[in-house]
Amino acid sequence: MGLCESAWVLRVSSHRVFFFWYAQESSAGVWAGMVDPTQWWGHRKALEVIQWLYLYHMRLSDDVLLDVMARFQAEMVKGLGRDTNPTATVKMLPSFVRSLPDGSEKGDFLAVDLGGSQFRALEVKVFNDGRQSSQLESKFYPTPKEVIQGSGAELFSYVADCLSDFMESRNLKHKKLPLGFTFSFPCKQTELEEGVLLSWTKHFKARGVQGTDVASSLRKALQKHKDIDVDVLAMVNDTVGTMMTCGYDDPRCEVGLIIGTGTNACYMEEMRHIDLVEGDEGRMCINTEWGAFGDDGALDDLRTEFDRELDLGSLNPGKQLFEKMISSLYLGELVRLILLKMTKEGLLFNGKVSAALLTKGKIEMKHVSAMEKYKEGLSNTKEILTELNLFPSEDDCIAVQHVCTIVSFRSANLCAAALAAILTRLRENKKLLRLRTTVGIDGGLYKTHPQYPKRLHKVVRRLVPNCDVRFLLSQSGSAKGAAMVTAVAYRLAAQRKQIDAVLAPFVLSLETLRDVKNKMRTELEYGLKRETQDRATVKMLPTYVCGTPDGTEKGKYLALDLGGTNFRVLLVKIRSGRRRSVRMYNKIFAIPLEIMQGTGEELFDHIVQCIADFLEYMGIKGARLPLGFTFSFPCRQASIDKGTLVGWTKGFKATDCEGEDVVDMLREAIRRRNEFDLDIVAVVNDTVGTMMTCGYEDPNCEIGLIAGTGSNVCYMEDMKNIEIVEGNEGKMCINTEWGGFGDNGCIDNIRTKYDKEVDEGSLNIKAKVSDQKSIPRILFSSFSFSFSRVLQETVKELAPRCDVTFMLSEDGSGKGAALITAVAKRLHNIGQK
Ligand code: BG6
Ligand code: GLC
Repeated sequence: MGLCESAWVLRVSSHRVFFFWYAQESSAGVWAGMVDPTQWWGHRKALEVIQWLYLYHMRLSDDVLLDVMARFQAEMVKGLGRDTNPTATVKMLPSFVRSLPDGSEKGDFLAVDLGGSQFRALEVKVFNDGRQSSQLESKFYPTPKEVIQGSGAELFSYVADCLSDFMESRNLKHKKLPLGFTFSFPCKQTELEEGVLLSWTKHFKARGVQGTDVASSLRKALQKHKDIDVDVLAMVNDTVGTMMTCGYDDPRCEVGLIIGTGTNACYMEEMRHIDLVEGDEGRMCINTEWGAFGDDGALDDLRTEFDRELDLGSLNPGKQLFEKMISSLYLGELVRLILLKMTKEGLLFNGKVSAALLTKGKIEMKHVSAMEKYKEGLSNTKEILTELNLFPSEDDCIAVQHVCTIVSFRSANLCAAALAAILTRLRENKKLLRLRTTVGIDGGLYKTHPQYPKRLHKVVRRLVPNCDVRFLLSQSGSAKGAAMVTAVAYRLAAQRKQIDAVLAPFVLSLETLRDVKNKMRTELEYGLKRETQDRATVKMLPTYVCGTPDGTEKGKYLALDLGGTNFRVLLVKIRSGRRRSVRMYNKIFAIPLEIMQGTGEELFDHIVQCIADFLEYMGIKGARLPLGFTFSFPCRQASIDKGTLVGWTKGFKATDCEGEDVVDMLREAIRRRNEFDLDIVAVVNDTVGTMMTCGYEDPNCEIGLIAGTGSNVCYMEDMKNIEIVEGNEGKMCINTEWGGFGDNGCIDNIRTKYDKEVDEGSLNIKAKVSDQKSIPRILFSSFSFSFSRVLQETVKELAPRCDVTFMLSEDGSGKGAALITAVAKRLHNIGQK
């Protein structure tokens, strides 16, 4: 490390230069020697040394670079975190690009590429003809300062004008084409087709654009051109476009890097790490906007006086500090500032400063690249300096070349450090010891500087020896990638349209729902009346449950729960009084399909077998416990412990059960087994069990709703309305069996062809229409989280005068069955006395 760590210190007096070896060990600082270099080493050597000393702060050792890499890793984490993002300088912007090209992209696209050194409009044709190929036609347009630093409206109208001109020249005006917009500035995106500009960077500064949606500004400007029809479908950063361009040729490409007018990188991040976007599955491309690294002072120890001076003279002081140490817009100017200072201090050009050297922007990146060329470098340097009226000696030229090398070397080093951080993150995300990956690269500095690529690759490989990196130059700019993204967006938009069309019949208007409500009301009343009850599709079955729990229930009960997703046997211990509580023990048993659809005897023998296992398991085989039977099928009851199965529903179809009393069948099966005895006190539907379970917690509960394997509801009805049960006093719970709603065709207007297909493929064809209709499967699978919200909101809308609390039954209906059993047992005992 030599020169960097041990400090060589310069003293300059008039045109004579001295340098000193500063003995670090001495706390007081002892001058160990003082030499006139022109005499000691010869002039040229001395000047080389001087520049090394002068710019030693710009030479970064691998240790420093590893430190920068670690700092950038921390910045990435900060940018990705929901709470830390607002104060993060590296914004880690989600791009809404979720996959790399897969070869299925095809079509004819337009693209606009704005924000690099050149602005162009393009037509990209992507073929999917067995071999992946694409065709690209483009036209460059100038970006005059008055356009890119004028008003936003003018800028977008200029872009639209250029696109229209391009379409004219390519004879595309008659076509409706999708467009991908490469916009190389930091934009906050919430979807692919929009992006709010966070701040201008580089040489752009149009008024009134920051904080607004750039894609919609472009759309508005395009709408003014009545002769073209362009659909702005996707907006991407140039890094993302570059990654996609390279990804088309190399599927391993998962990083996009720009080293041009500005610098930036994107990479594929795991969704689970991106707090700002919903969802944990898969990956999404993150535009790091690493140009802003250091804007919070994180790199202040590495920035030199020249970096600070350059920043102060820029369009955006204090911003994009990392970019200002790296990208081509600034490197020439950094070199100029260094040369100016060295000249003023007499180290160059005999101390004679020219007006050109004093002028901002006079040295550009192209000059730096030319001066660093292998063979012609020295003569190029002489020419360039002469053009700046500097009359350089050969030594001056060598010195200036050194300055260029140091500045561009630092740029490559810093870029390598940040890239190494991204590569390490990718490797760690994939939990690999060794990562093999491709980095897609673009940008004028990387493409035109003679040594830059080699230097960059070398340092990256040194910093991350456990990554095998392929650096793939983007041959066709970022627009081909933008077209790829647009192709995917286009396909998705077309798919979305198709899906919307398919789903349209599933979308029920409020008016339709009101109609359904009225029809249901009619059916409920139909089911309650003596004359119509027989033919009613909504059976309105009396349950003989006349009250909800009152807290005095107690004892040990068995419960069976048959008819939901699981068959369960439960032991429920209820305590009353001050230590009121319910403790439950349960076991789930499988009911094989052949049993569900075998004979009734087999089904009930199996149930008794499960009860036996449970009693054995709980060690209570000898106890003759009261049992409540949740039987989630339509049963016509004559009392609380008598239930005749009206008809099987859901997946059940055991023979010889319909029209039979299921309690009797259970009793007989227990008798057949002849191993234990049980006191079957109550048979209840799952809706009733659920209402009771919730009623134990909330005495206001008077409706039980099931939306599961099947769907049904029960509620407390006034006895006077229940014509088929004697008595007019009080209330009784009615099991509506609303699943049969529509079996008479009354809601055929809302049944889709899919409902009919499901019906035709079901066990109980033309029965239970509303079981299928009211609960589309889709709600249960991927969207089940919103089911309860939609349910509650719709109920509110359709029954505005009812204030409804929805209470989830945490314990299932078994607890309710036990509570009913407890009540029935109590009443039974009272009756016996
Ligand atoms: C071009 C890309 O090739 O490179 C642009 O198409 C990108 O999208 C540009 O912005 C970056 O390089 P430069 O040197 O033009 O800034
Ligand atoms: C600037 C922009 C960034 C872009 C980069 C390269 O850093 O902010 O969006 O990717 O330049 O063009």
